[in-house]
Amino acid sequence: MNKNNKIPLSPAEHYRELQDRIARWDEAYHGRDEPEVPDSDYDHARLELSRLEKLHPELKHQDNPSEKVGAKPNPAFGKIRHRAPMLSLGNVFDAEEFNQFVSRAGNFLGLTEEEAQNLSFVAEPKIDGLSISLTYEQGKLVRGTTRGDGTEGEDVTENIRTLKALPLTLGQNAPDFIEIRGEVFMEKDRFFELNEEQEKRGEKIFANPRNAAAGSLRQLDPKVTARRHLGLFAYNMGASSAPVAPTHLEFLEQLRQWGFEVNPLSRLLDHARDIPAYVEQLARDRSHLNYDIDGIVFKINDIALQQRLGFVGRAPRWAIAWKFPAEKAITRLEEIEIQVGRTGALTPVAHLEPVNVGGVIVSRATLHNEDEINRLDIRVGDLVRLQRAGDVIPQILEIVPPSEGQPESQRAPKFIFPDHCPVCGAYAERLQGEAVRRCTGGLTCEAQTVERLIHFVSRNAFDIEGLGQRSIRAFYELGFIRQPGDIFRLSQHKEALLKLEGWGPQSVTNLLTAIEEKRTITLSRFIYALGIRMIGERNAALLARHYGSFQNWLTSMRALNDEKRDEYETLSAIMGIGPAIADELAAFFHEPHNETVLNDLAVQLVVEDITSPAAEGAEGRKLAGETLVFTGSLGTMSRPEAKAIAERLGAHVTETVSKKTTLVILGEKAGSKAKKAQELGVRTMNEEEWRELAGL
Ligand code: IVH
Repeated sequence: MNKNNKIPLSPAEHYRELQDRIARWDEAYHGRDEPEVPDSDYDHARLELSRLEKLHPELKHQDNPSEKVGAKPNPAFGKIRHRAPMLSLGNVFDAEEFNQFVSRAGNFLGLTEEEAQNLSFVAEPKIDGLSISLTYEQGKLVRGTTRGDGTEGEDVTENIRTLKALPLTLGQNAPDFIEIRGEVFMEKDRFFELNEEQEKRGEKIFANPRNAAAGSLRQLDPKVTARRHLGLFAYNMGASSAPVAPTHLEFLEQLRQWGFEVNPLSRLLDHARDIPAYVEQLARDRSHLNYDIDGIVFKINDIALQQRLGFVGRAPRWAIAWKFPAEKAITRLEEIEIQVGRTGALTPVAHLEPVNVGGVIVSRATLHNEDEINRLDIRVGDLVRLQRAGDVIPQILEIVPPSEGQPESQRAPKFIFPDHCPVCGAYAERLQGEAVRRCTGGLTCEAQTVERLIHFVSRNAFDIEGLGQRSIRAFYELGFIRQPGDIFRLSQHKEALLKLEGWGPQSVTNLLTAIEEKRTITLSRFIYALGIRMIGERNAALLARHYGSFQNWLTSMRALNDEKRDEYETLSAIMGIGPAIADELAAFFHEPHNETVLNDLAVQLVVEDITSPAAEGAEGRKLAGETLVFTGSLGTMSRPEAKAIAERLGAHVTETVSKKTTLVILGEKAGSKAKKAQELGVRTMNEEEWRELAGL
C-alpha cells in the first residue's frame, strides 16, 4: 500500500508537511533552477496551505511560505453558468396523465375545468438529442453551452459555430441579450454512415444517434464537429433582456425569421381535446423521420400564463413531455450476477444475450432485488421480455412462458439469493419491511468503498472526465485512491501513472487537468457526491438551498447529534426532508471516518456558496431569509401560485407558524395561524400588501 493512504493527518501535521514540501520546492526552483514539480502541483500545495490556514488560523506562524507569494486562483476551464437555468420536463405516458397535467395547471391558475380544457398548446416533437444554450449579445452569437447540470455547462462555442442550422447574427428585433435553447442531433443516415467510417478506422462505435451527436459536439477540434453535420432545432428561450413574443407560436415564428430551424411538425392545438389525434399521428410517423424522437412536448401557448405558472423543482408547470411507449424485445438470460452498491445493497443484475432494443444493444438489465427474482420466477437460460425507455436502465418485464420458450422440465433450478456479501463475505442482512439485503461489512467492504468513490466522480457529482469506474477500480487496487480526498492528490502518482498500461503522457495530463478543474464545486453537487443514503440530487439541492454555504451546512450537520436536538428539528422541518432523511444525515455525521473524509476534502476544495437566485428565475431575492406562512384563502391567486412566487423571491415557505416564522400573509378567514402569529409577535400582512411586496 502507498504511504499516502495513511492520510488524513491531523491538521497540524498536514500543515507542517505542506510547509516542508513547499519550502523544498521553492529551494529547487529558485535556488537550483531545477523545478521538482509542475507549476500546477506547486500552486495547489499553496492553495491547500492557505485554505488550511483559513480553517485553522491558530496554525499560522511567521516564516509562512503562503505569505511570500499569492496563490493563483484555480481557473475553472471552459465552464459557463447559464443566466437562466436549463431545466427538464415532467413526463406523461397517456391521455389520462396528460389531462391531470392540464388540470394541475388549471388549478394553479384558478381556472375552471372547462377553461383548463380550452387552454391552447403548441406541440413539438421531442428530439432525442442534447440540449444547447446559445447566447446572443447585441444580436451576435457569443457563446454556445451544453446543458451540463442545468446550472452550468461546457463551453462549446467554437464547435457550435460550425453548425449550419444556426444564425451567427440575429438581425431585426433582437434583444440586447438573449439565450436561445434548442436540441442538437444527428440524422439517422449520418449516424449509420459515421459508424461505418468509425468501424473502418477501428474507432469507437456509437450506441445511438444521441451519443454520436454528444460525442461530435464535445470535440477538441471544431473541424471534427463540422464534418459530423449536426442538426439543430431551436425551441425555447432562457433569459432575455426584453420579451420577444406574447405567444410561443409567435416566438417560434420569430426564431425562423432570425434564421433558426424550427421543427416543421410543430403545431398549435387550440384545445386539450385535439391532442390525442396529434399524438397518434406522430407516433405513426415517428419511424419515417430521419431523426430520433422519443415523444412530444406540449407547451402552453400564452407566454404570460407560462410566466405565472413558473417551475416546480426542475420542471416547468406550463410544459410536459408525452413520452412514447418504451421499445420492447425478447432475449435469453445468461447469468445472474450479484453486485454490491455503495450503501451495501446487494443488487441482482441480469446478463443477457445481446439484443437490439429500439436501436440500442442491450446486454444487461437490473433485477432489482430478491423479491423481484421470485416474482418473475426467472432462471438462468429463460427467454425474457424486456423494455427500454429512453435512458432508463432496461427492465425485465416477464419470462416468456415455458410453453413458448422451453419446457418446464428443462429449466434451471430456482435462483438462491445469497445471504453473504459476495465481495467481503460479511453477513448480508435483510431488515424487516425492507426489500433489499445489505452487506453488513460497512467500510471494511471493498465493494462499498469503491462504489462510493465511483459515485463521487460520477456525472451528476464531481463529473471528472477520464475517471470512470474502470480507472477508479484500478487506482483503488494500486492504492492511489482509497478515499475521496486521494483523488485530488493523484498528481503525486504521476510517475507511476505514466508507467501504467494504456496511460500515455497525454491521457495522464488530461486526467490530472480534469481533476484540477473540479476543485471548485457547487454545494449541491458536493453534498450529492458524498453518497449519503437517501440524499439524491433533489435532496442535495434542497439542503444546499437551505443552508447556503458549505460552512453553514457542515456546522449544522455536526450539531445534529447534539442532545438538544434543535438542529435535528430544524432539518426535519425543511419541506421535502423529514425525519427519515434527517436520521440518515445524523448517522453519516456520527461516523468519525466520514468527518475525516470531509475535513480532508475541505482543505482541498472550494465549495461555492449559493449566491445566485434559485432555479426559478432571476428576479432578485427580495425575500431572501424570510420564512413565510400563508393562511386563509387568497382572492387573486391559488395557494400554490402564492407559494411559488414567494419561493422565487427567495423566501422559505412553511405550513406552520413558529418562532422561526418572519411573516404571515393573511387571506380571507385566516384562523388559528393568525392568532398564533399575534401571540408570537410575528409580522402579518393582508393580500393587497403581499401583492405589493411581491411586486405584482
Ligand atoms: S423544452 C423548460 N422542447 O427534452 C422546458 N425540450 O426532457 C425546456 N427536448 O432537456 C425544454 N425536444 O433536451 C423542449 N421541443 C422541445 C424538445 C425538448 C427535446 C429535450 C430537451 C430537454 C429534455 C427534457
